[in-house]
Amino acid sequence: MALWAGRFSKEINEDVNAFNSSLSFDCRMYKQDIRGSLAHAKMLMKQKIIDEQAYNEIYKGLNDILHEIEEGKLLFDPNAEDIHMFIEAELTKRYPVSGKKLHTGRSRNDQVALDLRLYVHDEIKELQSLLKDMVLTLTKISSQHLETIMPGYTHLQRAQPITFAHHLMAYASMFLRDMDRLKDIDKRVNVSPLGSGALATTTYPLDRHFVAEELGMNDIMYNSLDGVSDRDYAIECANALALIMMHLSRFSEEIILWCSWEFKFIELDDAFATGSSIMPQKKNPDIAELVRGKSARVIGDVSTLLTMMKGLPLAYNKDMQEDKENLFDAIDQVKLCLPVFTEMLDTMNVNKEKMREAAARGFINATDCADYLTKKGLAFRDAYKITGQLVAYCIENNETLESLSLDTYKKFHNMFEEDVYNAVALETCLNSRQVVGGPSSKVEKENIERIEKKVSDY
Ligand code: ARG
Repeated sequence: MALWAGRFSKEINEDVNAFNSSLSFDCRMYKQDIRGSLAHAKMLMKQKIIDEQAYNEIYKGLNDILHEIEEGKLLFDPNAEDIHMFIEAELTKRYPVSGKKLHTGRSRNDQVALDLRLYVHDEIKELQSLLKDMVLTLTKISSQHLETIMPGYTHLQRAQPITFAHHLMAYASMFLRDMDRLKDIDKRVNVSPLGSGALATTTYPLDRHFVAEELGMNDIMYNSLDGVSDRDYAIECANALALIMMHLSRFSEEIILWCSWEFKFIELDDAFATGSSIMPQKKNPDIAELVRGKSARVIGDVSTLLTMMKGLPLAYNKDMQEDKENLFDAIDQVKLCLPVFTEMLDTMNVNKEKMREAAARGFINATDCADYLTKKGLAFRDAYKITGQLVAYCIENNETLESLSLDTYKKFHNMFEEDVYNAVALETCLNSRQVVGGPSSKVEKENIERIEKKVSDY
């Protein structure tokens, strides 16, 4: 018999019950549901809405239920409508008099809003720790590759010399932003809607601030309609997760390219790659491909949540039960992807020679050649044109800017001197970029230190 059976003359249809039930997916919020109920009950006692004996029984009952669920002794009843009903019914089975008092001054509408907020808040902590591992792995690898020259690309065409450290640290910057974003979102997640009731609070003298403080929340929500119907925090969280996946997906794309025979910049550890069922020579970067694939579903999760919410009148509507599966999926996918990706990076082999070879071909020092002439007094546009002609000459004659004779240089402009060879040497191109944010080893080292320090605050 459902807890709300009073008004009804018939039992619910079995199929409808199964259709209506959210227990199969909201059961993962059991801890948060119990935590919220304990704070609510404590406040009811403090406000003399329930007596001490009722509180003590509720306290004991809920703690027992928590431990029994955790030990696998208490199984979720698939017929229960949701985790909230299941736990309250279980408590009432054990303490019939006191159990029935727990829901005084509360509705499932503010209860579920609270539980989901507590759940997201807890998950954000775990996500932060996974992101922190990722950033620290990237700074660690980068510290070993401050001098590993590779071509930087635009349009996937070799453009200017950078280091492998600089490339990896771009991703560290993205993941650090993800951490900042989650921290900021958490300010709006960790706010208590409890006391909003079904939609219009209640006639009991609740102390809402007390409940929020008990739960370690920043504040309470000040409009009860908004309290029960706001899911912005779920969408913001899913959106932050989609951004993490988008970053991972771009990274995956590069890993996949770098593993190819065309690049061979890295080789994945055997434990982090797979073979083919037919082609004996294959070593496939499946992890990166799966991560890239999974980014699609997380982006889909955000879009589902936004679409689900956009037409809902105030306040609670059952549609909102559909917020959980997509949000949970987004959280689960990111929690699956981040640690294996981090491990995969940590164990990969970096082929410095291949990177260097790629950097030596493609005239990625052409900008520096033009800058050389500019520094000797030529206008940049003229220097640019002359260098363009030099590059065309090199392509025609299978030469590089390093291999051209000084006589040939001089045919293009008499300002060229012996020191041009130093100017176009890749190390010079790299380490002359002393501007903050750039790839020179000195600047990069400072950036790594800055990021490691920032991450240690999390
Ligand atoms: N299972 C519901 C949900 O996830 C809980 C709230 C139900 N409230 C209600 N009045 N039916 O949204």
